[in-house]
Amino acid sequence: MIDPVDSGTGLPTPRRRFHTRQTTFRQLEIFLEVARRGSVTEAARALHLAQPTVSTQLARLQEALGETLFEHLGRRLDLTAAGEVLQRGCEELFDVLERIDSRLGALHGLTRGTLRLGVVTTAKYLMPAYLGAFCRRFPEVEVQFSICNRNELVSRLEANQDDFYVFSHPPTELDITAHPFADNPLVFIAPADHPLAGKAGLSWNELAAWPLLVREAGSGTRLAIERVFRARGWPFAPRMVIASNEAIKESVLAGLGIAVVSRHTLHHGGGGDLVELDVEGFPIRTAWSVVYWRLKVFSPAAEAFLAHLGVTAGCAGRR
Ligand code: PGA
Repeated sequence: MIDPVDSGTGLPTPRRRFHTRQTTFRQLEIFLEVARRGSVTEAARALHLAQPTVSTQLARLQEALGETLFEHLGRRLDLTAAGEVLQRGCEELFDVLERIDSRLGALHGLTRGTLRLGVVTTAKYLMPAYLGAFCRRFPEVEVQFSICNRNELVSRLEANQDDFYVFSHPPTELDITAHPFADNPLVFIAPADHPLAGKAGLSWNELAAWPLLVREAGSGTRLAIERVFRARGWPFAPRMVIASNEAIKESVLAGLGIAVVSRHTLHHGGGGDLVELDVEGFPIRTAWSVVYWRLKVFSPAAEAFLAHLGVTAGCAGRR
């Protein structure tokens, strides 16, 4: 592409890739959605746009920037190096725009903006109660609530996709702050008519005969169980791997085995015909923590949420 020439000096002026006449916020928003989802179809669905509209806007953006932003690897769209640069920039840009919006709101005494919260699967039973009260207090705040297993949540945290994350086993290697705010006891469960139900102080020998059902690798609950089994020298030999707390409860109820789950999982929707087994050294005592990057700059909505949880942001930045 040839650099334009300054009409005054006649010298070439550096080409500006972003120009309000060529590139719109909407195009950048569309680009970001495609980049995050790796698919035009899924991005179009998420944005409530027709697929050709998304493709056209992407093509215009690429043309304006003079860069190829994606490459096709099989059915998935992957970012090129230029695409990665643009994705990082867009994330910063939209973050700044959102801060401007919430500061404007603050001028009118309103706490508004978007609160992005990512939680591990098991915390989904707990967080709606906190969010319900928060949303009633701050009706102008839009809440985006993402739920995934621990490994996926670590990836969201690393990509700085949310304001806060709720883990019971926060990663230890990142520069984050973690504030415990609620207990998360992990308990053995069995059907109410199980031969071990009601027995006190069960030992591993008594449990070992029963098939163990566990969550998938990447689950925080499973990580906690593996650690405890290792520490006690118990063999970790699951009979079935089930990637859902609800399906684990149903499977235990159907007599397929016993399992260790969060007490929140057991009581969610009523324990039904499941009971907690009284096992030596159980429950495993863990706690829910709200986690954020230590240097995170909070929006008024995010600050309000921390305060709502009863947490004071220690060394976190303010804006
Ligand atoms: P999980 O995480 O839902 O991925 O099992 C729960 C936890 O971290 O305790």
